[in-house]
Amino acid sequence: MRISVIGCGYLGAVHAAAMASLGHEVIGVDIDEAKVEALTSGHPPFFEPGLSELLVKAQEKGRLEFTTDVSRAAEAQVHFVCVGTPQKPGEFAADVTYVDAAVDSLREHLTSTSVVVGKSTVPVGTAERLAGVIAPSGATIMWNPEFLREGHAVEDTLHPNRLVYGVASGQAGQRAVEALDEVYATILSEDTPRMITDFATAELVKTAANSFLATKISFINAMAELCEASGADVTQLADAIGMDERIGRKFLNAGLGFGGGCLPKDIRAFMARAGELGADQAVAFLKEIDSINMRRRVRMVDIARDALDGSFIGKRITVLGAAFKPDSDDVRDSPALAVARLIATQGGVVTVTDPQAIGNAQKSFPELRYEADTGRALSGADAVLLLTEWREYRDLDPAATAELVTGKVLVDGRNVLTPELWREAGWTYRALGRP
Ligand code: UDX
Repeated sequence: MRISVIGCGYLGAVHAAAMASLGHEVIGVDIDEAKVEALTSGHPPFFEPGLSELLVKAQEKGRLEFTTDVSRAAEAQVHFVCVGTPQKPGEFAADVTYVDAAVDSLREHLTSTSVVVGKSTVPVGTAERLAGVIAPSGATIMWNPEFLREGHAVEDTLHPNRLVYGVASGQAGQRAVEALDEVYATILSEDTPRMITDFATAELVKTAANSFLATKISFINAMAELCEASGADVTQLADAIGMDERIGRKFLNAGLGFGGGCLPKDIRAFMARAGELGADQAVAFLKEIDSINMRRRVRMVDIARDALDGSFIGKRITVLGAAFKPDSDDVRDSPALAVARLIATQGGVVTVTDPQAIGNAQKSFPELRYEADTGRALSGADAVLLLTEWREYRDLDPAATAELVTGKVLVDGRNVLTPELWREAGWTYRALGRP
């Protein structure tokens, strides 16, 4: 099929490449010329495992092109809207102006056989509103939320655990389902569950899923606070409660909490939208989820300061990790960088290292010091803070690391190291939610 993808960020670039790899002819449209050039050259402007290979292969086969010219989308029958919906500055609500602009730019290229598929995470009610916007063209709109995780985006796009189609009732809805079934034929042939819902349910599925994940993380981090107060160990607690299948062990890793471009802004946008709908009480608990999450960052700084005898002044602190999670170079609302900045403002000399995210971190927070080489970053440190659990930091050898630093103080912000090993090698090991 001929497909257009409007917006080629983390979501759209992967979606475009993945759809081309399924055999479709894809045109990716973005307003950012530099991004279009980078994607065309097979070097995505962000780090996502497997994406570069997919881009190169699809372009070699002549199935994928990127452009800034939205009129090229006119060739397509199905148009995926993959633009961002960031948090509005100073508000909880999501900014949907990019979604509106994308649909607006498509309008004159739509015909009665076109299908517009929204993938962006939007406040409930958006699809219904946009259906009115494109109605004069006779085109159909549907919402097909995306559940991909950064760092696993290619795998999640090609092998999703479910597909949700939010469609209008009647013939328009039927036409949308048929078109998307054709796009996803290969994925559906793998017995991927597919649910057909109305617009509002599909939009809510996405925000509800992210709210649940955020709640799970903040729940275990609240337990970590209690463990700290009582001397218990949150990692053992998580293992024990996680063995109950009804609870499950996934997303119960206590530590520095969640960040990134999705979870924080999605729970806030959900609260804002619920308020507009007069249902704010229903999700009032998310405010607490957000607070618990933010408190972890402050607690991390407190533990680190305490481990350094009460002051950061004149101390060299090495922060391992800048990305909001491993296997990503995304630093949006990164808990690691939030901690690094707090320590810097309290007089610590902070050096941040990361396998992929230094470039982005430097752009966002030029005031911090950066060092790409882990060994050099650790050299002379008075304390080491593990804040993003990249494999190479999890695999650090306590004895070899001890040779590099000045002070053998380690704070494990992600509860991924084995305390005994580090203590045996002479380190002061501290962690969130563990004695
Ligand atoms: C999330 C959702 O998982 C995905 O379905 C949705 O499409 C977009 O938002 P993502 O933001 O890529 O994906 O990251 P995710 O793997 O969910 O992690 C989010 C944050 O939670 C990270 O900062 C991570 O470090 C943190 N986290 C995750 C924990 O602190 N503990 C856990 O147990 C799991």
